[in-house]
Amino acid sequence: MTDASGDRVPIEAQSVLAPLTRSAIFLVVTIREGTAAADIARDAVTGVSDLVKSVGFRDLDARLSCVVGIGAAAWPLLTSQPMPAQLRPFTPIGGPVHTAVSTPGDLFFHIRADRFDLCFEFERLLLSALDGAVDVADEVTGFRYFDARDLLGFVDGTANPVGSELVGDVIVGDEDAPYRGGSYVTVQRYVHDMAAWRALSSEQQEAIMGRTKADNVELDDAPAGTQSAHKTLATITDPDGTEHGILRDNMPFGQPGAGEFGTYFTGYARSPQTIDRMLLRMFVGFPAGAYDRLLDFSTPLTGSTYFVPSLPVLEGLAVEAPDLT
Ligand code: HEM
Repeated sequence: MTDASGDRVPIEAQSVLAPLTRSAIFLVVTIREGTAAADIARDAVTGVSDLVKSVGFRDLDARLSCVVGIGAAAWPLLTSQPMPAQLRPFTPIGGPVHTAVSTPGDLFFHIRADRFDLCFEFERLLLSALDGAVDVADEVTGFRYFDARDLLGFVDGTANPVGSELVGDVIVGDEDAPYRGGSYVTVQRYVHDMAAWRALSSEQQEAIMGRTKADNVELDDAPAGTQSAHKTLATITDPDGTEHGILRDNMPFGQPGAGEFGTYFTGYARSPQTIDRMLLRMFVGFPAGAYDRLLDFSTPLTGSTYFVPSLPVLEGLAVEAPDLT
């Protein structure tokens, strides 16, 4: 496999680039103190591929996969290998009105399949393998909503990179040679104020998103220096014109009876700085103050960042246990 610049990357990346599925579970856990908990957590994460086989083989058409992300605080508990070059805890971003919060998370599991029962069964067995070693910090069940719409009613994911751009945007290359084939993932659980959103006209909603609602056509950018749409604030371009994309697999979740309507944001990138730059433009605004109006209707309740090692690195953790005594 090669990226856009022709760099070779190992083909054994985790299933980061898996196609969108109908169901997903987003599971964030913290590892308890002590060597015994770290040992159990290490065994469980290195056994994830086998567990995917055990559960996924029961219906191969349902394409079960699980990506494992490791947070900055957990890395030294699991391995004596050096930290991936850009692995840091998620830093909160305070804007004039809204804040991107940072919340606890040592391990992130992105469980995807076209059948919810496979996701459920996989999570059940995974948590039983982690029993006694972790506490669940966040657990969200996502579902695909009509033609890949979020609960705000817009098609979500259209501008994801495809083809040769995909690997170049998402997978670590020679800039961090020991961790080639890895990726970084940032997740945030957003809840929406649906009453306030529905009080807007479709035209107002479209101006906030930067796309038409019914047929998903991109709108022109607003003139420089005025209020930008979400799609413009989330576009990162260097002064030399290089664009930095990310791979999103946002999913709706919710519980209408409890008044909960949300979007679980999941962004994979070759560098976590790309997502930090997007968040800065969204929360602080560009120009400063002209923040993303999507945030007036969407509040992040969580935020955390992880490194997603390639499969050989993940499985190698089993033989690289650090001395924690
Ligand atoms: C574009 C929804 C949060 C990054 C979009 C689009 C929608 C959308 C509907 C336009 C269609 C598409 O290209 O997918 C949402 C919702 C969010 C959310 C409902 C949370 C409540 C975020 C966050 C980031 C982000 C936190 C990054 C940190 C992007 C990017 C694009 C995009 C990169 C594509 C821009 C382009 O090149 O056109 N989002 N988004 N989004 N969003 Fe979001």
